[in-house]
Amino acid sequence: MTRSIAIERTAAPKTKPDEKQLGFGKYFTDHMFILDYDEGLGWHDARIVPYQPIQLDPAAKVFHYGQTVFEGLKAYRTNDGRILLFRPRKNIERMNRSNDRMSIPPIDEELFMEALTKLIELDRDWVPSEPGTSLYVRPFVISTEPFLGVSPSRSYRFMIILSPVGAYYEEGIHPVSIHVESHYVRAVAGGVGTAKTAGNYAAGLKAQEGAARRGYTQVLWLDGVHRKYIEEVGSMNVFFRIGDTIVTPALNGSILEGITRDSVLELLRHWNLNVEQRAVSIDEIIEAQRSGALREAFGTGTAAVISPIGELSWQGEAYVIGGGKTGELTKRLYDSLTGIQFGADPDPFGWMYEL
Ligand code: COI
Repeated sequence: MTRSIAIERTAAPKTKPDEKQLGFGKYFTDHMFILDYDEGLGWHDARIVPYQPIQLDPAAKVFHYGQTVFEGLKAYRTNDGRILLFRPRKNIERMNRSNDRMSIPPIDEELFMEALTKLIELDRDWVPSEPGTSLYVRPFVISTEPFLGVSPSRSYRFMIILSPVGAYYEEGIHPVSIHVESHYVRAVAGGVGTAKTAGNYAAGLKAQEGAARRGYTQVLWLDGVHRKYIEEVGSMNVFFRIGDTIVTPALNGSILEGITRDSVLELLRHWNLNVEQRAVSIDEIIEAQRSGALREAFGTGTAAVISPIGELSWQGEAYVIGGGKTGELTKRLYDSLTGIQFGADPDPFGWMYEL
C-alpha cells in the first residue's frame, strides 16, 4: 500500500561540503521528513519539506522529561552509483521497541520505510562517494505537548534528517584506548538502557569527559549492580577474542541491541567460529590479558562500524591488547561488513536494501 507523503522541494539547494572533510554529523541535506501525532488523530500529515529549524513551545515535554527516541543507520553509494541501505527494517523495529519503552505510540513500519526511501531518493545526490563516506540517517521522535505534568505526551513529532559523514573517529580504523569506568554507570536492567533514548547518551557524558581528561578515547561500561560485568564501550557494543572463542556480553536488559552487533554475530557463525553471548566480567578480561589469552577486543556500532580497542586502563594500570594493533579478526570483520555495505562484496545474508 502506498501512503501519501506530500513533498515540498527546496527552492534554494545548499552547496555540498567537501567530501574529504565531512567529519561526523556536521552537515545536513536539503530536505527532512516530518510526521505529527495528536491524541485522537494518530500519526498524520506525512511530509518532506526543505531542511529548516522547527518551532516548539518552551513547555514541550521533550525539554523537561526527555520523552524521546532516536535511530541511526547509513546509506552507502556503490562504485556503480547505486544507493544501498543496511538492514533498515531492523532500525524500524528497534525504534518501535524504544517507542514502547518510552510510552510513545508506535509508527507504521511501512510508512517509516517509505519515508526513508522517499527522503533519501530526493536527496540522493548527497550520498557521498569518497571511500569510507556514507549518508548517516537519523530518525527521531520528540514529545511536543506543552504541559509540565509528568505523564506521556499527547502529541509527538517524528522526523528524519540526513547527514553526509566521513569516518566517526578521525583516526579511522585505528585502535582506541579505553578507560574502564568504575564510578558512573550507563544503565541498569529495568531502566531504559535497551532503548535508544537521549538520556542514556547524556548520562554517559560525564564519564566520557573524565576518560578524555586522562587521555582515553572512550569508556568501558560496567553493570550498575555489581560494577563487575562488562556492558558496552562508549555508545557501542563490545566483543573480546579470548583464545579461540569470541565473547560478547549477553543482552541482559540494560544493553542496547545493536544491529552491527547482530551482524557481527551472524558473520562469526557463518565463519564457523565459536561465539558466546554471556556475562563477561572485567576480572575475566584482565586475567585473560595477563595470561596472554586475550587476543583482540573491539566495539561495534553503526557510526564507527568496528572500532578496535588497543588499550584498557583499569584500577590505575594500562593493559595493551594485541600489541596495540588492529587484530586480524577485527580487520576481517571490518572489511567484510564494509565490503557488503558498500556493495563491493556479495551479500549472502540479504542485508542490503537497494533504493
Ligand atoms: C553508533 O552508531 O554506534 C552510536 O550509537 C553512536 C551514535 C549515537 C552517534
